[in-house]
Amino acid sequence: MLGSFPRPYIEDIVRGHPDVVAVVGVYDDDIVALASLQRDSRSTAELAILVEDAWQGDLGWRLAVALLGAPLVGCLANVKASILAGNSAALGSVRKAMRTTGVTATTRRDRETICVTMALSADDIPHSPTAANWQ
Ligand SMILES: CC(C)(COP(=O)(O)OP(=O)(O)OC[C@H]1O[C@@H](n2cnc3c(N)ncnc32)[C@H](O)[C@@H]1OP(=O)(O)O)[C@@H](O)C(=O)NCCC(=O)NCCS
Repeated sequence: MLGSFPRPYIEDIVRGHPDVVAVVGVYDDDIVALASLQRDSRSTAELAILVEDAWQGDLGWRLAVALLGAPLVGCLANVKASILAGNSAALGSVRKAMRTTGVTATTRRDRETICVTMALSADDIPHSPTAANWQ
C-alpha cells in the first residue's frame, strides 16, 4: 500500500532530504500510515497522506495535524494539497486537520483536482522550539 508513493519520494523520506519531512503511524513493526510535506518552493510545501486501508477512519487528519505543527512549517507561508474531487476521505481529512489547528485555506478547482492552499501564520500553530533548520 505505501509502495504506491513514487519510489524517489519514498527514498527521500527514508534517507532524509532537506525539503521533505514525514510522520508515520506505526503498529508493532509495521508502518500503517505515512504523511509528508515536500517543499516545492521557498515558502510552499505539498501535503500528502496515506493510511493503509485497515487503519483508515481516524488517522489521516491526525498525521496532517502533526505535520502542520512540525518545526519546518515555521518558515513556510503555505501548505498545498491537491486532491481528486471525488476523494471525500482526503477532503474530510484535510478539513478536519484545518478545523483542529485553526488554519484557513482557499480552494480552487482545476478540472478533477481540488487545490487546497492553506495559509500559515506564525500564530496559528504551536511550533516546536527545536524549529527552524528548514530555512
Ligand atoms: C485520505 C485518507 C488519508 C484519510 O484518512 P482516514 O484515517 O481514513 O480518515 P480521517 O480520520 O483523516 O478522516 C477525517 C475526516 O474525514 C471524514 N472521512 C473519512 N473518510 C471519509 C469518506 N470515505 N467519505 C467522507 N468523509 C470521510 C471523516 O468522517 C472525518 O471527519 P469527521 O471526524 O468530522 O467525521 C485515507 O483515506 C487514505 O489514505 N486514502 C488513500 C490515499 C489518499 O487519497 N490520500 C490523499 C492525498 S492528499
